[in-house]
Amino acid sequence: MIVGVLKEAADGESRVAATPVTVAQLISLGYSVVIESNAGVTADFSDDAYISAGAQIGPAAGADIVFGVNAPSVEQLDQMRDGSTLVSLLSPSLNSDLLVDLARRNITALAMDAVPRISRAQSLDVLSSMANIAGYRAVIESANVFGRFFTGQITAAGKVPPAKVLVAGVGVAGLAAIGTAGGMGAVVYATDPRPEVADQVASLGGQYLEVASAEVEVSTTGYAKEMSDDYNERAAALYSQWVPDIDILITTALIPGRQAPVLITSAMVSTMKRGSVIVDMAASNGGNVEGTVKDEIVVTSNGVTIIGYTDLAGRLASQASQLFGTNLVNLMKLMTPAKDGVASLDWDDVVQRGITVTRDGAVTWPPPAVQVSAAPTQAPVAPVMQTPVKLPMSAQRRYAIIGVGAALLLALVAAAPVSLRVHLTVFALAIVIGYYVIGSVHHALHTPLMSVTNAISGIIVVGALLQIGHGDAVISTLAFIAILLASINVFGGFAVTRRMLSMFSRS
Ligand code: NAI
Repeated sequence: MIVGVLKEAADGESRVAATPVTVAQLISLGYSVVIESNAGVTADFSDDAYISAGAQIGPAAGADIVFGVNAPSVEQLDQMRDGSTLVSLLSPSLNSDLLVDLARRNITALAMDAVPRISRAQSLDVLSSMANIAGYRAVIESANVFGRFFTGQITAAGKVPPAKVLVAGVGVAGLAAIGTAGGMGAVVYATDPRPEVADQVASLGGQYLEVASAEVEVSTTGYAKEMSDDYNERAAALYSQWVPDIDILITTALIPGRQAPVLITSAMVSTMKRGSVIVDMAASNGGNVEGTVKDEIVVTSNGVTIIGYTDLAGRLASQASQLFGTNLVNLMKLMTPAKDGVASLDWDDVVQRGITVTRDGAVTWPPPAVQVSAAPTQAPVAPVMQTPVKLPMSAQRRYAIIGVGAALLLALVAAAPVSLRVHLTVFALAIVIGYYVIGSVHHALHTPLMSVTNAISGIIVVGALLQIGHGDAVISTLAFIAILLASINVFGGFAVTRRMLSMFSRS
């Protein structure tokens, strides 16, 4: 089959659905690839690079499988063949007319923005790939406008405080923004209705701000649901309290298929400091901030800059195209198990079913719901097993054992030659003291304890080395065994320590 890669028709779109690297991967799956002239030029991929990777340059819309970043233009659609397959972003919830048109033309359409959020589908998840890039770029755009350092500094000329960044909405884009801003030295705060993200925020060095609410938002689809009025009021109180002190605000709140929720009102913006920057990543869905203008930069009367770019991923066009193209290759791997260049749709696979929005002349959107959970599901309650309870040793029994041990020791001391009696007594006392001391050491301190035992083993090795040449076979044998055991303890201790240290090494 031939895969055709379109030159994007949408104004300002700099990405392309295949790169020379992904073209080579498609060819290794058995496909021929034809790409439109200059399709990759805005992403820094020349026609020559595609030809070197094995592609042909030419009209692509008439291919068996057509790749695009965005939905094709009307002209491109007119060139598509009956029975062909289209793979691109389609926003199926918002483009019902397009779906009807695709079905009428008998085109099988696979919407890459409808990939279910399940672990198995992560390698095809275009939205996550793009949101990750966009979250990074949102921070870079804000840094470009912000007139100060992100990181705090103490210089001869004075102290510079770190920038304070607040990220609203901790999805893929939000996490990328937290990581990037933290990496640049800012102090980062973040909030999200899904409490399960608190650990993720902390792991990136940010501080999670919880909206104290009776409603706890536990995700079952990987996406948030619409919040209650109660939650929204409490969130508004939190934003009102925090934004006057924040330098950079990045909003990413999204509820799939709906208008973006307004989190930040004009009144809140008017309390922000002159020079502060807002990046409203939800600008294409109406925006999270009052006053955002899609694709534009607005400066408010109190000197706050609101960035409403909707092409943040495209501003890293080469990288975005590479990740987008790789997501498409991963889809083709799924659809071409025999690597014979023949794609087939597995209707029983939830991922392939989920992205198929038209097929056999019919609209197949929306697909049946796929239940996924970002939060741990409740484990089924296991039947209660009656395990025998281990009772602690009774006092009588313990005293009896101690008594027998003491009697045996006394008998041994009595029978032993005088010179050995002192050693045996010290040995017995060492066992008793060691038992109580080591038994009372907290688990967390077992590693330093091991160093102490290493030191003791060192003394044993020295003592045994002095005895090994004694001449008496028994003493030499005992000395040899002592050296062996103590050495195992010493070298084993070092080996364990080395393993533990390697857990902290970056490589
Ligand atoms: P996501 O679904 O992974 O994350 C959205 C987050 O918003 C979720 O964690 C959700 O819990 C949270 N959220 C929902 N309602 C909220 C509320 N009322 N308050 C606070 N948080 C709330 O989405 P993803 O992939 O991270 O995308 C985030 C946004 O970035 C989307 O609006 C997307 O359209 C946009 N985006 C923008 C780009 C641009 O160039 N401007 C490029 C890529 C994505």
